[in-house]
Amino acid sequence: MIPTQSLETSQSSVLSYDPKDWQQGYRSQPNEYDYWIEDIDGEIPMALEGTLFKNGPGLLEIGGQPIHHPFDGDGMVSAIQFTQGRAHYRNRYVRTQGYLAEQQAGKILHRGVFGTQKPGGLLANMFDLKLKNIANTQVIYWGGKLLALWEAAEPHRLDPVTLETMGIDYLEGILQPGDAFAAHPRIDPASALDGGQPCLVNFSIKPGLSTTINLYELATDGRLLRKRAYTVPGFAFIHDFVITPRYCIFFQNPVSYNPFPFLLGWAGAGECVQFQSGQPTQVIMIPRDPQDKAIKTFEVEAGFVFHHANAFEQQEDELIVDSICYKTLPGVDPQADFRDTNFADLDPGQLWRFTFNLETGTAQSQQIEPRCLEFPAIHPAHMGRSYRYLYLGAAHDLQGNAPLQGVLKLDLEAGDRQIWSAAPRGFTGEPIFVPHPQGTQEDQGWVLILVYDASHHRSDLVILDAQNFTAPMARLHLKHHIPYGLHGTFAAV
Ligand code: CO
Repeated sequence: MIPTQSLETSQSSVLSYDPKDWQQGYRSQPNEYDYWIEDIDGEIPMALEGTLFKNGPGLLEIGGQPIHHPFDGDGMVSAIQFTQGRAHYRNRYVRTQGYLAEQQAGKILHRGVFGTQKPGGLLANMFDLKLKNIANTQVIYWGGKLLALWEAAEPHRLDPVTLETMGIDYLEGILQPGDAFAAHPRIDPASALDGGQPCLVNFSIKPGLSTTINLYELATDGRLLRKRAYTVPGFAFIHDFVITPRYCIFFQNPVSYNPFPFLLGWAGAGECVQFQSGQPTQVIMIPRDPQDKAIKTFEVEAGFVFHHANAFEQQEDELIVDSICYKTLPGVDPQADFRDTNFADLDPGQLWRFTFNLETGTAQSQQIEPRCLEFPAIHPAHMGRSYRYLYLGAAHDLQGNAPLQGVLKLDLEAGDRQIWSAAPRGFTGEPIFVPHPQGTQEDQGWVLILVYDASHHRSDLVILDAQNFTAPMARLHLKHHIPYGLHGTFAAV
């Protein structure tokens, strides 16, 4: 049982932010930079060595025409390299085919999954099913390669130092042209199937009337260890998954898909996904050992899940999954501008724990945290294993839905919570936990977080001591802003 927090603290009817400040973080950043960060409050820890890579949509319009949804924005990768107490910043656009063509044309040439339409109205968009691989969701370093990921298509390989785009990467033939590779690989730190070696586990989805889930497991040198495909009934919209030493776990949320508005050019494919309120979520557990064919399925009330925090097995027959759940998934309104989002109209993402009994097939769920949260992060050595500490992007106030303005550290054992907030004028996203190289405790290390500072229209990289959130160890002021991003990775390069 995890103690839940009382709702009687930090109540406020006043917004913790000005919506106009929040909107400014969605201005495009068309420039590419390369400089040593000199404007620093505090000190960068000397033991922090390596590079923080972050990916996200960098362009929110093309040729003056706005992108309909930030998820449709071209991928811009930032690298902040730490060495001997100093930090260097660099950013580059991923030179996807679509990015190059549209920059040259000075206008939108492709339809976006989330509703960005080409100019020219219905006729120009009708039956144009060619989507742009925008490489904007995650960036990972694996098998000696830096890869920008977007879940509906192949990865793009970048030079880890210059961030120059080297082209689409088929992972030494593991992928074929047109294959997808999800943006949420999980790294098993000590794979039981591989003699305790680390292993990257990822998936791809081919949705339709039934959905095929492809599973890939890659060795540290990029070699394919295992690849399997499973078909599950019904349409599935699956962004993330979790692993344990024995299972890959997917939440198939209750959504339906009506492809006709997309085929006819009225809407983006992402706009045709409809959440089925009141329907259960199917939880699918696929054994990682290809010899084991016994897939387990469960039904839970989970609402909609984009991101999972972690999963682990305990007492032989119990499997735990911690996830950020939304009561409903709002449809993407083709007429609305995402910048006008009224946060109060939407359900917050909240942290839930699901306990599955593998013997009896029963499931239980419990809300762990009512605060609006997203982007969970953990110590990488605890991936798929029992864990105590969780770091999340968090709203400033304890109740209600709001933009992320802080970082929450949750002690799942003691129930303690620490929050560092950048409110009222700062906005956060995904925290990354970097273990201290000599650390012996799970929370020994640093939490790195990019903060958009509306008062200076620039971004800061904030370094928090994971054991003490009272004040940042260092705040590195960039010379410019980075539009709100998606996911990132810390790598020892
Ligand atoms: Co994600």
